[in-house]
Amino acid sequence: MGHEALVVGGSGMLAEVSRWLAHTGYHVTVIGRDRSRLEQVAKNSSTPDRFTLLDLDYQDTTALEQAMSQLRSERGPIDVAVTWIHNTAPEALSVIQHEFAYQAEEWRLYHVCGSRAWIKPPFVEEVDSCLYRRIILGFVWEEPVARWLTNDEIACGVIRAIETDQPQSIIGKVEPWERRPGY
Ligand SMILES: NC(=O)c1ccc[n+]([C@@H]2O[C@H](COP(=O)([O-])OP(=O)(O)OC[C@H]3O[C@@H](n4cnc5c(N)ncnc54)[C@H](OP(=O)(O)O)[C@@H]3O)[C@@H](O)[C@H]2O)c1
Repeated sequence: MGHEALVVGGSGMLAEVSRWLAHTGYHVTVIGRDRSRLEQVAKNSSTPDRFTLLDLDYQDTTALEQAMSQLRSERGPIDVAVTWIHNTAPEALSVIQHEFAYQAEEWRLYHVCGSRAWIKPPFVEEVDSCLYRRIILGFVWEEPVARWLTNDEIACGVIRAIETDQPQSIIGKVEPWERRPGY
């Protein structure tokens, strides 16, 4: 079995990250709720056969636990997880971490966070075998105003963060914090 990747929320702004991982040789499991949106990720990829599409609501902890357990038994150890999880699902990241905690192989968790993580970093458990990497989505300063990142900027930034593999990466800017859009 080849390299395994999981992208949670991988049918939205991270769709290009899901496709890039597949293009670079990973088998990519993508989680989202809308089946047709998930299918577009594979359909618009140069390697559509390298996807497993899981339509589930990550707010449903039991469903997520069952899906992760099944994924692990069917696909084996994971190498990379990229997660973009809304704060409506505070248990989801931990469920994923614990499911893959006891595999012998190290794996990397790229936790994509909103800009607020710069001011208030989320608490994330340390879990055996998991190398945690935080990616903070900042903003773009375009004189005289600031704007949020586009999907392309986010996807390119996340890909760069995976390639450079630093403990923390920032896409765009987070300072001056009081210059962020809408403030
Ligand atoms: N700092 C910044 O500049 C910044 C930060 C964050 C976002 N943004 C922008 O804001 C826009 C909107 O953000 P967004 O997070 O709504 O967009 P998104 O990335 O387009 O959508 C979220 C992703 O998570 C999935 N998802 C959402 N809720 C889920 C659930 N309960 N269970 C399973 N999967 C779920 C979505 O698929 P389903 O809907 O099919 O479930 C989708 O794949 C983005 O397009 C981005 O450009 C900017």
